[in-house]
Amino acid sequence: MRILNFGSLNYDYVYEMEHFVLPKETISSLNYGRNFGGKGLNQSIALAKAGMETYHAGRVGADGQDFIDYLNRYGVKTDYLMKDENEATGHAIIQVCKGQNCIILHGGANKKIDEKQADEVLEHFGEGDILLLQNEISSTAYIMKKAHERGLKIVINTAPMDENVFTYPLDLVDIFIVNEVEAAGLVKATTDDIDTIIDLIKEKYGDKEVVMTVGEKGAYYIGKGEVIHEPALVVKAIDTTAAGDTFTGFFLASYLKDGDVRKALKLATKASSITVQGVGAAQSIPDIKDLQ
Ligand code: RIB
Repeated sequence: MRILNFGSLNYDYVYEMEHFVLPKETISSLNYGRNFGGKGLNQSIALAKAGMETYHAGRVGADGQDFIDYLNRYGVKTDYLMKDENEATGHAIIQVCKGQNCIILHGGANKKIDEKQADEVLEHFGEGDILLLQNEISSTAYIMKKAHERGLKIVINTAPMDENVFTYPLDLVDIFIVNEVEAAGLVKATTDDIDTIIDLIKEKYGDKEVVMTVGEKGAYYIGKGEVIHEPALVVKAIDTTAAGDTFTGFFLASYLKDGDVRKALKLATKASSITVQGVGAAQSIPDIKDLQ
């Protein structure tokens, strides 16, 4: 089974801060680093590290060869990753403070993905393959429709959540992977009460499988008439960047292989608990052997 992750690639400019910068304030960072990131790239690395045959499709700028080399180093296939000579690679400015982060995104080449590129990539995939998407690239709705026509199963991590998501053909989705904020947005909940959100998921997406992470409250699987809960592991978080991406990659790699939800939730919980103990995005994703 192959997974095609059509997703973003960003340079992450990471600043360790005493506190998040406030309006009218100019402050110095305590530390700085430039890392490989983007929800797409992070999830591809996590999938590959968890043992899944992973193809990453997307778009980088003329300076993007480093991303190709980085993905290849972890076994991610980049045959369908395009270099755009006229656009800069996407980037993110990330402030990290006391285990929390806040992120500014600039889409760059990620937002230049067009229908032509989507067609060129998807012609290599079909029945039995899986498409994974996030919400950081352009032409997502088109990619979903074409993938569905070609018989791919569709998984979406609707992060970062915004109104755009409702322009996508969500009826074509097989599996949603969301955190509690994205889940609340998806079902238009007016409360942050988890039980209410779960009830709304059952009501609105009862024919789908939904995996919802809830930080310290663990993770839930809602699907096939069942709700399964996996508690979180207690660890000291240094930087939560890419925790959700790690969870997505490890959950999918395990679940798609043998259909065992409980095992997949456990593995993904363990993997993301390691990610939060390191600084950075892709670089803090563990190897499967670290989990055994
Ligand atoms: O999920 C973390 C990622 O979100 C970062 O790597 C950043 O690039 C943004 O896409």
